Amino acid sequence: MNQTCKQHKRFAGSLKVLAVVSVLCIFVEPLWAIEATKTNSPATAVTNAPVTKVESNKHKLLKLLFDGVPDEGATNLLKAPRQKAAPDRRPSVLSAFHFGQGSLSNLVFHPPFAKQECAQCHGGSLQNPVLKAPQQELCMQCHKKNFAAPMPVMHKPVEMGQCSRCHDPHKSPNKKLLLKTGNELCLKCHETKMTQPVKHAAVEMNGCLECHLPHGGPNKFLTKFAGKDVCYQCHDDFAKTAKFMHAPVESGDCAQCHDPHSTANEKLLKHKGADTCYECHDDFQNRIKTAKFVHAPMQDNSCTMCHNPHGTNERFMLNKSGNGVCFECHEERDLAAISGHAGTQGKPCAECHDPHFSEQRHLLKPFLKPLTAKE
Ligand code: HEC
Ligand code: HEC
Ligand code: HEC
Ligand code: HEC
Ligand code: HEC
Ligand code: HEC
Ligand code: HEC
Ligand code: HEC
Ligand code: HEC
Ligand code: HEC
Ligand code: HEC
Repeated sequence: MNQTCKQHKRFAGSLKVLAVVSVLCIFVEPLWAIEATKTNSPATAVTNAPVTKVESNKHKLLKLLFDGVPDEGATNLLKAPRQKAAPDRRPSVLSAFHFGQGSLSNLVFHPPFAKQECAQCHGGSLQNPVLKAPQQELCMQCHKKNFAAPMPVMHKPVEMGQCSRCHDPHKSPNKKLLLKTGNELCLKCHETKMTQPVKHAAVEMNGCLECHLPHGGPNKFLTKFAGKDVCYQCHDDFAKTAKFMHAPVESGDCAQCHDPHSTANEKLLKHKGADTCYECHDDFQNRIKTAKFVHAPMQDNSCTMCHNPHGTNERFMLNKSGNGVCFECHEERDLAAISGHAGTQGKPCAECHDPHFSEQRHLLKPFLKPLTAKE
């Protein structure tokens, strides 16, 4: 059976389960209603929105059918505590507690808050609560397992225990109790990352978390995968198509040339034109200034007219095989007429010419002398 068939079968299977569950829900409804009344806590009295049995069953159905539906206690403070509450501290202030403008049903509640276990985190008075311990310590009481993986590289605010710079410790309309959704959360502190005009679609469409872990991890810069593998999540692996790879591509330093977020230059390049190359091949930059003769395309700053920046199947990562790169601009027919070319057909041009610069006319290599007299 192929993969698609299996998936269809599984899908059909879940439909059956769905049907059975729905029927069950209708019949068992009264039972749930009783349970719901039993578990309703005094806290319900604090507000005046009664929890109806219909809502309760709807929620149970939702929870059965979908992942990620929070516990009833979590979504609905009003009928929260399933276990014994902390009676003395159960805040009468809660009714006055500010829930913001959002409707209650949109909020996800942090279970210890919903259960009004304020004292897990707070001391002091309810009017003036203080934290019992630094946040990291507080949160780790219950979240050790979320931080169990080794994190040789840690995000600064996490290291400093500033959990509440990203999470609301009580409630939030966003998943994972986040203060903001998507890139907004991160750009609050990293606003400069996306200010340049050329923006990476990966950041705009997929978001920071496509490439970064929010807390920490094994890789520098908190990337989800090491080096180029972060990029190969979406881009073709150049090594699969190129026999001759450029050293920085092979070692995975894509960010030597590209900014993965936004830049002023097209193709997300950190520098314009040949400046990208001069970052490392500064000898070329010097030669262009000092050489007597410079090949015209070099003066246009376009190394990529002849070289692929990542790699190709040709030596020196040339764009074409043999003399093909030269024929991009020079007519083979015209060349044959040149006096110095008698009998050179099929020979590599670079045997006699330096493709970049030369101290002699016609870009001749040192061992060759121009035939024609100097104009
Ligand atoms: C999981 C730990 C935790 C629990 C449980 C908790 N809080 Fe908090 N609370 C915090 C943290 C952390 C802050 C500080 C937030 C900040 O500095 O940004 C805070 C801040 C506050 C503040 C200051 C105003 C504000 O919203 O920033 C009040 C008031 C408050 N909590 C009330 C309560 C009440 C009432 C309960 C119980 C219903 C409760 N908290 C339960 C962690 C908790
Ligand atoms: C008394 C235990 C307790 C403490 C203390 C506590 N949490 Fe939680 N937290 C829970 C439980 C229970 C859940 C829900 C189960 C789960 O997702 O692990 C939860 C869930 C979360 C979630 C994920 C919500 C989701 O949708 O997956 C975040 C984020 C979170 N807590 C942050 C914090 C932060 C930040 C602190 C410290 C300010 C903190 N917690 C302290 C018990 C606690
Ligand atoms: C820079 C922002 C940021 C800080 C600071 C931060 N978190 Fe998170 N946290 C996130 C994001 C974003 C997610 C959601 C990850 C996802 O959806 O894959 C998350 C997820 C979680 C979850 C859900 C389970 C999980 O691991 O995905 C818990 C629990 C949690 N954080 C606890 C904490 C605690 C405790 C602290 C403080 C020590 C903290 N966070 C600090 C951004 C942050
Ligand atoms: C509360 C402020 C704050 C928020 C919000 C925040 N960061 Fe940071 N981030 C920092 C600080 C501070 C540093 C350390 C900067 C430094 O060392 O120059 C940092 C560093 C980083 C680094 C570099 C890590 C390294 O090892 O050099 C990355 C990557 C990063 N953040 C990604 C994110 C992502 C992704 C988000 C959103 C999930 C995010 N940040 C949200 C404050 C924040
Ligand atoms: C396509 C993958 C990708 C996405 C999406 C992405 N980043 Fe990065 N980010 C990287 C890589 C790779 C590095 C390492 C750069 C390097 O090696 O110089 C990095 C480095 C960083 C750094 C630290 C180094 C620096 O340049 O300051 C910060 C901070 C950062 N990213 C924040 C963000 C934020 C905020 C977002 C979302 C708005 C985001 N990143 C989205 C791949 C990504
Ligand atoms: C989540 C998927 C994803 C990841 C991961 C990703 N990219 Fe991209 N990248 C895209 C998409 C989508 C485009 C736009 C493609 C298009 O316009 O044809 C793009 C375009 C580009 C471009 C061309 C930009 C332009 O203006 O034409 C460069 C360069 C680039 N990515 C480099 C990187 C680098 C370097 C990394 C790793 C740090 C990376 N990408 C990781 C999805 C991704
Ligand atoms: C030595 C510098 C350099 C390195 C290292 C480098 N690139 Fe590039 N990349 C370039 C240049 C220059 C261009 C523009 C080529 C052009 O305009 O013809 C480019 C273009 C791209 C494009 C757009 C392709 C297209 O056809 O439009 C993508 C995607 C890309 N690079 C991804 C990557 C990834 C992924 C890595 C790391 C594995 C990487 N680059 C490493 C210099 C580099
Ligand atoms: C991050 C540094 C870096 C950048 C930027 C860079 N290169 Fe390179 N390049 C190297 C290294 C390292 C080598 C291999 C060592 C050597 O031969 O000098 C190399 C080798 C080469 C080679 C020879 C390949 C071979 O097979 O011998 C060519 C051609 C080349 N680079 C072209 C370019 C072009 C074109 C650019 C700009 C798009 C560029 N390089 C940008 C580091 C870089
Ligand atoms: C007109 C085409 C052309 C242009 C433009 C060009 N190259 Fe080359 N390059 C070649 C050819 C052909 C070779 C191979 C020479 C050989 O076979 O000996 C080469 C070889 C190289 C090499 C390896 C051998 C060496 O001389 O060190 C490097 C590095 C290099 N080029 C870098 C660059 C840089 C950097 C630029 C832009 C500033 C550039 N090239 C522009 C055609 C070109
Ligand atoms: C992007 C286009 C382009 C490519 C590719 C190219 N050239 Fe040129 N080449 C030129 C231009 C433009 C001139 C100047 C024409 C003129 O002065 O008549 C030139 C001039 C020359 C000259 C004559 C210099 C002089 O002073 O008389 C030689 C020799 C030469 N090229 C060799 C090559 C070789 C060898 C290659 C392949 C490695 C090559 N060219 C690839 C554009 C190119
Ligand atoms: C055996 C050595 C040799 C080879 C191989 C060779 N050339 Fe030449 N080429 C010369 C010499 C010598 C001259 C100078 C002729 C003169 O001084 O009149 C020359 C001149 C030129 C000129 C300048 C013509 C002019 O008068 O403006 C160009 C352009 C040129 N060659 C391109 C090429 C290209 C492209 C190739 C490869 C297809 C190539 N050459 C292969 C030796 C060679």
